[in-house]
Amino acid sequence: MRIGVLTSGGDCPGLNAVIRSVVHRAVGDHGDEVVGFHDGWRGLLEGDHRPLDLDAVAHILAAGGTILGSSRVRPEQLRDGVERAREHLARLRLDAVIPIGGEGTLKAARLLSDAGLPVVGVPKTIDNDIAATDATFGFDTAVGVATEALDRLKTTAESHQRVLIVEVMGRHTGWIALHAGMAAGAHAIVVPERPFDVDELTAVVGKRFEAGKRFAIVVVAEGAKPREGSMPFETGGTDVYGHERFAGVARQLAVELERRLGKEARPVILGHVQRGGTPTAYDRVLATRFGRHAVEAAHRGEFGMMTALRGTEITLVPLAEAVARLKTVPDERYAESECVL
Ligand code: F6P
Repeated sequence: MRIGVLTSGGDCPGLNAVIRSVVHRAVGDHGDEVVGFHDGWRGLLEGDHRPLDLDAVAHILAAGGTILGSSRVRPEQLRDGVERAREHLARLRLDAVIPIGGEGTLKAARLLSDAGLPVVGVPKTIDNDIAATDATFGFDTAVGVATEALDRLKTTAESHQRVLIVEVMGRHTGWIALHAGMAAGAHAIVVPERPFDVDELTAVVGKRFEAGKRFAIVVVAEGAKPREGSMPFETGGTDVYGHERFAGVARQLAVELERRLGKEARPVILGHVQRGGTPTAYDRVLATRFGRHAVEAAHRGEFGMMTALRGTEITLVPLAEAVARLKTVPDERYAESECVL
């Protein structure tokens, strides 16, 4: 069998572990040939690729980023590119393509699959917001990085008697904010699923200082917004791909809390550091299992599917289901954080 693999969308710790696993299973165990497309869908649309043998994936298990590169593609570019993708698959005599990516990539994978191309998707996102799988690799690493940062920020906040507003990733969902905030004992957690009321947030932080505490840590997901009319808020507009640009919620909240509380407040934006570097053991294991199961699905001819973790088992779910719904933080989980606004 000949298999193509690509990584698309924002990078994520564990991508290399999937690529390695695909090559090990396909080339090492089945005697297949594997090619890697460069820079995600761009590589497939332009036929830009290289062969991947066992040597090509040596020593990449623990490496961050992706050896294949990644890119974002506008949905219309891909819609127009279906026939080009079909031509390249035929020219390279590929029997299957395994795109590894998040929501946008899986939507694109479904588009190609609906057009009859042999696709098996592998989900990735540090945001952990794909509903069809219990977990995605990259999340555990991102939460670990954010937690370590929060632990460090506590000591400097206390020294200066400051309020630190720490912005973590999470475009539509607050999983990183919730888990890192809980792990580090944050005093308030703000997630996109629940527009926040700045009066409530001020009261929570204010009570801490009244009780004699010397600092406060507020964790906020980058996609969080205030309740309508709760405070002046500038949105960030959209980027060239039509994605919402982040508004700088931590910066705007810091200004507002400092004004209301009369305490020094500082924004800290963790940004892409949460996506960089070596994956945790958990993420390497999940990524490796996904890669192996994607190859097995291709060998069984189960196309139009995505690998998913359900409980402790890896299963396949239709790509249609995979892109249908985001996994948001439910109220009961948020309530468990013990720092409810
Ligand atoms: O979806 C993963 C993610 O890291 C989000 O948490 C974040 O909002 C987004 O990607 C950032 O994308 P970019 O790398 O294009 O700035």
